[in-house]
Amino acid sequence: MKESWVSLPTIYVPMVGVPILLFAYTVSIVAGFQSIGRILLALSMVGLFVFGVSGFRDVYINHWNGKRTRLRPAVTINKGSAADVTLPRAEAKIVNFHVNRFNPETQRLEESVYGVETDSFSNVLDGLLKIKTESDPTLSMRYSCRMGICGSCGMVINGKPSLACETNVWKNLREDKITVAPMLGHPLLRDLVTDFDDFFERHLFVNPYLFRNDLVEKYHPTVQYNQTKEELDKFLPFSDCIMCGLCLDACPVVNTNQEFIGPQALSQAYRYYADSRDEAGKTRLDHVDLLKGVWDCEFAASCSDVCPKGVDPAFAIQLLKTEIIKNDFIKRKESKS
Ligand code: SF4
Ligand code: FES
Repeated sequence: MKESWVSLPTIYVPMVGVPILLFAYTVSIVAGFQSIGRILLALSMVGLFVFGVSGFRDVYINHWNGKRTRLRPAVTINKGSAADVTLPRAEAKIVNFHVNRFNPETQRLEESVYGVETDSFSNVLDGLLKIKTESDPTLSMRYSCRMGICGSCGMVINGKPSLACETNVWKNLREDKITVAPMLGHPLLRDLVTDFDDFFERHLFVNPYLFRNDLVEKYHPTVQYNQTKEELDKFLPFSDCIMCGLCLDACPVVNTNQEFIGPQALSQAYRYYADSRDEAGKTRLDHVDLLKGVWDCEFAASCSDVCPKGVDPAFAIQLLKTEIIKNDFIKRKESKS
């Protein structure tokens, strides 16, 4: 890391200011304004003196006396590389992973225990991949991004639906072990892998896309769909869903009544209903105004508790209920009048 030691005013103010003053002095003398000329000359001399002293001070403080203290921020040239950075060495620890694997032949969960070397940065997905590469290549799990974006690595860790890549091993140890199981709220395929067809069917049920009445304008737009901050705030928190399915797995209603559309799909119904660009309007409300829609929700709120993105599906469902009741009230009032 090298820092330049010359402050900018020291260079540029005398370089530009003094010639301007001298030029103005010459013009004044030629034009016959002797007194103005003398004032400008005096200012030039003062300027030269002040900035001369200031420049000498900069050079002395920053260069000659070796302290390299800068008087003001200057250009920073970074000559470092990753190799120059020394990180503290991470301690290693063997942690027992108790993995409940679904066996499609016996249709049962069977526990396998693996000792895995971990450090303080290891997450559960790291541990499972270490098992797969070093001791048991038959272990199956789903994953992709390894950074909490794709929503693929959902599983039940220590009894709670979680993203494996977002769950730190050391911070979640229970008696020096980690327990991993597949999400039982989804059909099981093998080991930790679950079938998401049913999940996506539910998602599709709520028509998760913007609806526009003018199809020509929709597919050949001529202007942007501008929104105010207030319009954006209404739906943006609900649009962070990564479709990991944790909320569905945590929902006690879905786990006892497969008819219920579930928290993920309903939160997306609200997300599109609240979007000012959408023109489906009240038909979105009618679509989920069903027993298997919003009215099966018992507001256990476990969906919001496990959501890794803070989508808060339980809140979205209550907002839908409110909108449906409001809409119904307006309809009744209109039919009476
Ligand atoms: S609402 Fe949250 S928990 Fe449910 S699928 Fe979306 S991101 Fe996952
Ligand atoms: S691997 Fe993508 S969210 Fe975990």
